[in-house]
Amino acid sequence: KISQVKARQILDSRSNPTIEVDCTLENGIFVRTGVPSGASVGSKEAFELRDNDKKHFFGKGVKMAVNNVNSIIAPEIIGMDVTKQREIDELLISLDGTKDKSNLGANAILGVSLAVCRAASIYANLPLFSYIGGLGANLLPVPFMNIINGGVHANWQGADFQEYMIAPYGAKSFEESYEWGSEIYQSLKSLLKEKRYNVSVGDEGGFVPLVSSNEEPLDLISKAVENVGLSIGRDVGFAIDPASSEFYKDGKYILKNQNLELDSISMIDYYEKIVNDYPVVLLEDGLAEYDWDNWKILNDRLGRNIEIVGDDIFVTNLNIVKKGVLDNIANAVLIKLNQIGTLSETIDVVNFARQHNWGCFVSHRSGETTDSFIADFVVGLGLGHIKTGAPARGERVEKYNQLLRIEEFLSGKSVFAGKSILKKSNG
Ligand code: PGA
Ligand code: ZN
Repeated sequence: KISQVKARQILDSRSNPTIEVDCTLENGIFVRTGVPSGASVGSKEAFELRDNDKKHFFGKGVKMAVNNVNSIIAPEIIGMDVTKQREIDELLISLDGTKDKSNLGANAILGVSLAVCRAASIYANLPLFSYIGGLGANLLPVPFMNIINGGVHANWQGADFQEYMIAPYGAKSFEESYEWGSEIYQSLKSLLKEKRYNVSVGDEGGFVPLVSSNEEPLDLISKAVENVGLSIGRDVGFAIDPASSEFYKDGKYILKNQNLELDSISMIDYYEKIVNDYPVVLLEDGLAEYDWDNWKILNDRLGRNIEIVGDDIFVTNLNIVKKGVLDNIANAVLIKLNQIGTLSETIDVVNFARQHNWGCFVSHRSGETTDSFIADFVVGLGLGHIKTGAPARGERVEKYNQLLRIEEFLSGKSVFAGKSILKKSNG
């Protein structure tokens, strides 16, 4: 039984306040969870409650959400059986009483939901991933590492596209994949220095070179991959998250970097060329969340060969994903727990997506804590791929490091997802 729930305000990786929740059980079990926060946020995401008190943290404080946990949620769930995750999540939803969790705050609710799960796993004497997914859970994901940052995560200094990720899918284990990723990251740093590019990093730990086109990062990374003796395409693929809602205005995609204004079809042509020229295996948010009808065209044209992932457009929301499946506008959904606000609702989205043969790509946020819940989550549910930034900065590597520990724990019994999760291998 839950005996204590206590939230506090801490800082995230961008120096913005966020919520941390402690949960204690009657038998003394103690756990803690941290809640992340996005910068390129979908308009239909569950509501992140902030104080808007300009005297503190420029209005970004979360003391109201903290207070909602401590004085509204805690008294209701103390005494409850910690293993009743769904019951507790449903109670949290009804205590809030709104559709978008704007009353108590999705940040307050998620912190509690995840703390309950973590505490229950210890009570059940299971590693978190096994508690989430059962004793058979053994699939280690391909890490999609974001090694060049652009867009809003780089203050619009470099590329227009927000994320250039490498997927070291040709490795035989997660450990080897992680090593390759780190070597490529270091090799890219050396290459950038050689070319007299800046090597400071963006919000997710990737470099921010002041490139002159949105393809140039792909050339730079290809070279960095070759420089460590790996083969681009065979060993390592690309994934791109342009986060295009951020540069979509009045029906046009504005690529400042190249002085281009493209309509939706020209934007799709642009991606098609990139996919033909480079071994891109996944494109996330290629079109804006307000461009629903053209997503279908994007998916028709590229979805047979690569994963077309919706982030801002689906916001891990079951009703929107259902409509997306019906309209056939993508073939995968990005999974961010804080977009919807409870573990149970997130699992519902995953189950629905899988029933319809859609991929589920698990994700961190650009503002993170050192909580590694999503690492256990991706293995527990066997979702095969995760993005959690560069193989650098504490809040990013903590998730990858946890995956390393899980692989070690499973010793010979783990399976590395590798190329099997991809639609196109380019091998
Ligand atoms: P965010 O970005 O966490 O800033 O929303 C991540 C993403 O767009 O995938
Ligand atoms: Zn995204």
